[in-house]
Amino acid sequence: MASTLLRTAPALRGALRASGIRKPAVAMASTSFVRGKATLPDLPYDYGALEPYISGKIMELHHAKHHQTYVNGLNSALETIAEAESKGEFTKAASVAPLLNFHGGGHVNHSLFWENLAPANREGGGEPDGALKKAIDSDFGSFETFRKQMNTALAGIQGSGWAWLVKDKSAGTLGLVTRANQDPVTGPYVPLLGIDAWEHAYYLQYQNRKAEYFEAIWNVINWKTVAARFEKS
Ligand SMILES: [Fe+2]
Repeated sequence: MASTLLRTAPALRGALRASGIRKPAVAMASTSFVRGKATLPDLPYDYGALEPYISGKIMELHHAKHHQTYVNGLNSALETIAEAESKGEFTKAASVAPLLNFHGGGHVNHSLFWENLAPANREGGGEPDGALKKAIDSDFGSFETFRKQMNTALAGIQGSGWAWLVKDKSAGTLGLVTRANQDPVTGPYVPLLGIDAWEHAYYLQYQNRKAEYFEAIWNVINWKTVAARFEKS
């Protein structure tokens, strides 16, 4: 278990930094550790703004309930680890690794996801252009081939998970990866675009027809955000 924590923590720390979690300037007076605090990010659009492709009810529950739960779980895990660390209780700290991975990944993944989306009558939908389009054409053959491969990857996820368009930092190339549950994208990959394949992302509207959700979501993908991540990675 200790080795799991050692493997997980540095990678997740980078992902958490990318999601905007910062340490407060002053340590809490009652404790001897400095505690980072995750918060639920505001959405840059209304809950109903992605309709008819994603219902307002789904968006509200997904953001206000599911994501909030990951935020709370992450803060709780970080607090437990910091307290255990301050007392030298490293076995206890290590035992929190699975929770840190699950809730930390959930917070990071959803924070990226909301930014990936935009109303269809604003920036949502269509196809990327510029350098991102060139990279997709070069690495996948065409946008349509990429889209089909992404949908195939999503359909192949058993249970809960995510599919991601990623950039390999060392090779500089684009690729597709899937992750189970809330495992964050780490290591050599920079996540550019993630699609949530958990039932909570579609079930209220699409029930068992998840392939329809995977088709519909392309109408609300914010390519501007994806391109910005690509260009700065
Ligand atoms: Fe989700």
